[in-house]
Amino acid sequence: MKYQTTPLFSIPLFYANLGTIDPLTMAWIEKLDYPDEAAGHEHTEDKYILNAPKLAGLKTQIQEACNVFVKEELKVNDDVVFELQNSWINKHSKGESNSLHWHSNAMLSGVYYIKNEPDAGDIVFNKSHLYTNLFHDTVRVSFSEPVQYNTSEFYISPRSGDIVMFPSHLEHQVTPNQTTTPRYSLAFNFFARGTVGGGTSELKI
Ligand SMILES: [Fe+2]
Repeated sequence: MKYQTTPLFSIPLFYANLGTIDPLTMAWIEKLDYPDEAAGHEHTEDKYILNAPKLAGLKTQIQEACNVFVKEELKVNDDVVFELQNSWINKHSKGESNSLHWHSNAMLSGVYYIKNEPDAGDIVFNKSHLYTNLFHDTVRVSFSEPVQYNTSEFYISPRSGDIVMFPSHLEHQVTPNQTTTPRYSLAFNFFARGTVGGGTSELKI
């Protein structure tokens, strides 16, 4: 019997490597202030960190990666561009993690891994119980092995220089840093600009 199964209505997760930060910029990042937050890790007070002149090259790389994601993979029309909005650097020292969350007031979000040694923390994507691609979460069928159709979580063990991008509603968390080396990641959000929709639903944003 020949057959095929199609992953209908899936959530896109973009994953690439942009290369690592140069040592001088890394030293500048390590010297930034990282005030304590209740969330279990620290992040920069500056929420537009990619506007820093030292990160201009990285900002361009992230915008270019987003353009590939949006145009090549998502096939968004040319009358809409995705503009970088806020961005900040997270620092996870030994034992620190990030609890389950999603990004508000954004359409696409992502993370660039400035420095992430092995065991310094995975990013885990979780399926919302309101997102039903197979059986609703009110019935928990057992499965013999995880496959893309039945899984409700997806782990990535990022390495320095990696970038991930995903729709901002996608829930995610970060596992504890099990090393003594701080983990630095740069989070960012994109929002659409241009003309969306048509007719009486047209909106210029
Ligand atoms: Fe996040």
